[in-house]
Amino acid sequence: MQTLFVTRRLPAAIEELAAREFDARLTPSDVAITGLAAKANGADAVLCCPGDTLDAATIAAMPASVKVIGTFSVGYDHVDIAAAKARGIKVCNTPDVLSIATAECAMMLIMAAARRAGEGERLVRSGKWAGWAPTQLLGTQVSGRRLGIFGMGRIGREIALMARGFNMEIHYRDMTRLPPELEQGAIFHDNDDSFLPVCQVLSLNAPGGEGTRHWLNNERIGKLPQGAVVVNAARGTLVDDAALIAALRSGHIAAAGLDVYNGEPKLNPEYIALENVVLLPHLGSATTETRDAMGRIVLSGISALLAGETPRNQVA
Ligand code: DGY
Repeated sequence: MQTLFVTRRLPAAIEELAAREFDARLTPSDVAITGLAAKANGADAVLCCPGDTLDAATIAAMPASVKVIGTFSVGYDHVDIAAAKARGIKVCNTPDVLSIATAECAMMLIMAAARRAGEGERLVRSGKWAGWAPTQLLGTQVSGRRLGIFGMGRIGREIALMARGFNMEIHYRDMTRLPPELEQGAIFHDNDDSFLPVCQVLSLNAPGGEGTRHWLNNERIGKLPQGAVVVNAARGTLVDDAALIAALRSGHIAAAGLDVYNGEPKLNPEYIALENVVLLPHLGSATTETRDAMGRIVLSGISALLAGETPRNQVA
């Protein structure tokens, strides 16, 4: 049996599956691992998670026994892919199975930010709610508005499907135009200047990494319409926090919904002081059925890669 080192506590069903299929070295901790390379000593494969550091130095220090890294996530910006390739280590992830859950989270952020659900919840819990009032916590209606999706991959397309149910007009910005069967009437933009001014609601759904670092910066925020709503359920690195915070303060951005942060679990403390931002703790894929499906697909990818096969969830 091959040895699998698991960096974090996983759902019970997945730990049981891992223990059936591998000599599994489980970790009963919910926090990002430190000293990963040393802890993986003797393992054939490592199952890691977002937040774990698999930078070039960690991968270079991995024991020679490690042939495969599987990440319990679709995003793999925490794994230095070039370093893994240089070491001959194969990498797999969890595509598709979390698209609906993550899209639901983005829709929840859109609704919560636009309709001021965070402020409302805090008001009720504070005990200071004095009852219904004609001018209380007036938000922005979402139905019938234009939704701009930056990154029209699998998650972006699920958001589009859900947002059509709210009668939203869907626009998207991506590197290439989708075929009509995937586009489903969404309006493609090949440049920011045509895309951003139409985004009454902007949803960030592109991958993290250097190519998209601080994509939502001061200049691009300036091109959004006054009173736009911004949500991010992708990666915190997509946002220049100082620029977004300034726009939330000035009211140019009416509200934001964030599930992910630069340097999470730390986040810019200025967000916490802002009433018009809804903050979630990276819950995008956090449903029982999704996390179980993520576990199954990453374990099957690891097995296939160890067997010399090419699973569809191989990323390197
Ligand atoms: C992913 O899979 O990349 C998510 O961010 C984890 O929920």
